[in-house]
Amino acid sequence: MAKIFYFSGTGNSYQVAKKIGMRIDDCELIKITYKTRNIIHEDDVIGIIFPVYYFGLPEVVENFLFNFDFKSGSYLFVIATRGIPIAGGVRKQLVEILGNKISYFQYITMGDNFNIDFWDSSSIKTKELRNSQCDAAIPKIAMSINCRLEKKRYMLVDFLWFITKKFPRYGYNTYLNNIYNSDNSFYVNDKLCTKCNKCVRSCPVENIKLDKKILWMHNNCQLCLGCYHCCPNNAIQYNNGNLTTIGKRQYWNFDDDYSLNGKKTL
Ligand SMILES: Cc1cc2nc3c(=O)[nH]c(=O)nc-3n(C[C@H](O)[C@H](O)[C@H](O)COP(=O)(O)O)c2cc1C
Ligand code: SF4
Ligand code: SF4
Repeated sequence: MAKIFYFSGTGNSYQVAKKIGMRIDDCELIKITYKTRNIIHEDDVIGIIFPVYYFGLPEVVENFLFNFDFKSGSYLFVIATRGIPIAGGVRKQLVEILGNKISYFQYITMGDNFNIDFWDSSSIKTKELRNSQCDAAIPKIAMSINCRLEKKRYMLVDFLWFITKKFPRYGYNTYLNNIYNSDNSFYVNDKLCTKCNKCVRSCPVENIKLDKKILWMHNNCQLCLGCYHCCPNNAIQYNNGNLTTIGKRQYWNFDDDYSLNGKKTL
């Protein structure tokens, strides 16, 4: 048996999880949420796949890993999707949490969904290019996993972890300290919203509800930007006076038939 746990705001990490999962026998995909049970996993192969946030792990993934354990002899692989090829820091943070338990670690550069600072998310052309580069890389990665290859090397780019300490604006600690309040800066344009519910279903941590209007619940937002990116009418924006999505591109890489409730497995 194999299990892949994934967290994905806009679909990149889900695509990687799905495509690798299809190449591993008897593999189940499980969405990481705050509800993911903390049990000792008995599977022979375990994968964890998620996006890089501020040179580190999404808070919900970090939280999941603090309570994560598996039987001795299992093969653990971790893949971090990122928007810029130089991003690092994840490997170092993983070692701080899991010690030397990871057998295989890999970054995959996908389209960038981060657009609240001075840059924009990737264009459709870049998304397609990076999806096809990812598709080309996956058979080799899956073969490495199926052969239980050990790839633990400390990555050069992980030295960039120091950026998170030197420049607080891009710092992981800044992200962590503000994360639960980050949804204060989302708002919805009621004139554009058709109450289709897609943003509610897209939220990977159930932080949005549709009452008379769309409401953010201010408890466990991850700043994945999924709600902003998925809206068919571009009715959602983020603006805190400093960082904004206004005038930026949307980015979405889930399959059209993906069950946003997360019930779909392979
Ligand atoms: C809050 C946030 C912070 C991000 N920080 C980084 C980063 O430090 N380095 C990077 O390469 N990409 C960064 N990104 C881009 C994502 O890691 C990348 O687009 C990822 O593949 C998205 O995966 P998903 O579609 O599964 O959510 C960030 C995205 C968000 C939303
Ligand atoms: S996805 Fe957009 S249109 Fe649909 S309910 Fe959310 S804000 Fe409204
Ligand atoms: S509220 Fe929006 S940004 Fe926050 S976790 Fe949910 S989908 Fe992501």
